[in-house]
Amino acid sequence: MIKNKLSDISLPIKSELEKFDEIFKQSMKSNVTLIDLVARYIIRQKGKKIRPLLVLLAAKVSGGVTERTYRGAVMVELLHTATLVHDDVVDNADKRRGFWSVNKVFKNKIAVLMGDYLLSRGLLIAVHGKDFDFLDVITTSVKRMSEGELLQIKKTRKLDIDEETYFRIISDKTASLLETCCQIGTLSTSSDATYNEAMKKFGEYLGIAFQIRDDILDYEGNTATIGKPVGADIKEKKITLPLIYSLQQVSKNEASRIKKFIKNPDKNGSVEEVINFVKRNKGIEYASDTAASYSEKAKAVLSVFPDSPSKTSLSELVDFVINRKS
Ligand code: IPE
Ligand code: IPE
Ligand code: MG
Ligand code: MG
Repeated sequence: MIKNKLSDISLPIKSELEKFDEIFKQSMKSNVTLIDLVARYIIRQKGKKIRPLLVLLAAKVSGGVTERTYRGAVMVELLHTATLVHDDVVDNADKRRGFWSVNKVFKNKIAVLMGDYLLSRGLLIAVHGKDFDFLDVITTSVKRMSEGELLQIKKTRKLDIDEETYFRIISDKTASLLETCCQIGTLSTSSDATYNEAMKKFGEYLGIAFQIRDDILDYEGNTATIGKPVGADIKEKKITLPLIYSLQQVSKNEASRIKKFIKNPDKNGSVEEVINFVKRNKGIEYASDTAASYSEKAKAVLSVFPDSPSKTSLSELVDFVINRKS
């Protein structure tokens, strides 16, 4: 049976997650009133906490959760939160997790600075804990995330993106952080190179499947459940896997007709036109099949770990990610 609720998947680390929640809340506290105000606004909007979940589960399958594991989990969630706050400025997004985005409520200036604040708070946790091995992997990931976002902007401007470039973008902007979460989980408790390498691969494959699913939701999701408007990527001229595939299925003429809709997304009905085009050309099916094949690869690398409830949860998390509705 596929468990489709994160609460069920989290059962093997239920008490650890509660402890995480408490430390996470504390980690954003500040004496600066404005920072505290924005931080409290962010904390109220619950994310799925997939990244701390990964850190904790990866640690548990690699030996056991330690104090270092908690520092790692808080660090990655702070970093993730920082990138979402920045991402919504970059994408000009009004909504996040079903609420108004930070940039919408507090404006871009505050959102940019708040993102920097969260990022540095995250890195400081590792510095104070002398977790220099964490710093190494996490800063590499921050670098890759920026590279991925910038490559995406460049490609968006030209509307010329192929599958290879798409995979480079999503592997940098999304999979790199999930890869890091898994690595940090293992590093926090074990120095076994086989475990470390396997968890890194697991995170990478899971991360790719995760972003493909995110991109599918932009086409077939429902605004109420995904917490952001459907068609937002098209409005931002972001060409993702369902559309890349669909454009390859049709004549040059038809492809340039669709690209015109993407260039002028404000025209009435143009977003619907693109969504219908993708549905007609089986772009969603293609992307789902691709995500499923990455999810199989992710599950396969788990074989090096001894069986345990946490290992089962990691495998269930993979199914959750490719079937999620939000
Ligand atoms: C959203 O990540 C950003 C992407 C990498 C697509 P999540 O969907 O994990 O965000 P929250 O934390 O649950 O809101
Ligand atoms: C997600 O980018 C990756 C990062 C936040 C770095 P997107 O722009 O595709 O994600 P959503 O759809 O806004 O969550
Ligand atoms: Mg973005
Ligand atoms: Mg975005």
